[in-house]
Amino acid sequence: MTIKVCVFDAYGTLFDVSAAAREAASAPENSALVDTWPAIARDWRLKQLQYTWLRAVMNEHCDFWQVTQDGLDWAMAAAGLNDTRLRQVMLDLYWELSAYAEVPAMLRTLKDRGMATAILSNGSPAMLEAAVSSAGLGDVLDKLLSVETVGIFKPDARVYQLVPDAFGVTPDQVLFVSSNGWDAAGAAHFGFQTAWVNRVGEPMDALPWKPHHVLSDLTTIPDLAQ
Ligand code: LAC
Repeated sequence: MTIKVCVFDAYGTLFDVSAAAREAASAPENSALVDTWPAIARDWRLKQLQYTWLRAVMNEHCDFWQVTQDGLDWAMAAAGLNDTRLRQVMLDLYWELSAYAEVPAMLRTLKDRGMATAILSNGSPAMLEAAVSSAGLGDVLDKLLSVETVGIFKPDARVYQLVPDAFGVTPDQVLFVSSNGWDAAGAAHFGFQTAWVNRVGEPMDALPWKPHHVLSDLTTIPDLAQ
């Protein structure tokens, strides 16, 4: 099937979500994070995602910035850190997460080949615009699609439907790329072609909807999107 649009998850896929805690820990004044940042980064992400799923199931939507703050609060409490300054440092860094090294050239190659490109993310429009602008990716992404348009988080089908609606394509003409196994499964369930970026060698999620491609990074995406 010919791919007409290449769509990327944002957090964890294009942008390194561990970067906020890791970069905060590298500043001398934030020494309380030197030993704790790996657990904080892991728990922050885990709780942020759990809160999206819980809120979707309970029909109690809030935006992704709220669950990002709530997840960090849980992670800092679990690490025994009660420090509003450090909390603010990490939250501020979340607005300018680093993109993975291969991302700019990969997106440039897609655009040079005439492919339509987009982000489809739980992130609020303001968060996505800030991340894309700070990583300098504004001219290689055609659309930033946020769940805020439909008011529910992934993997609700109304979120994935934003892509066919925005580009006038059928689901099987979309290559959806995510490092989140559950998101790739949700996208495959919806009918997208999917690539799961498994940077850290995790087992595949035990769900019936398997990714069409499994990659260790994003370098080969332009070869898949033909
Ligand atoms: C996103 C989350 C799932 O960007 O990483 O949608």
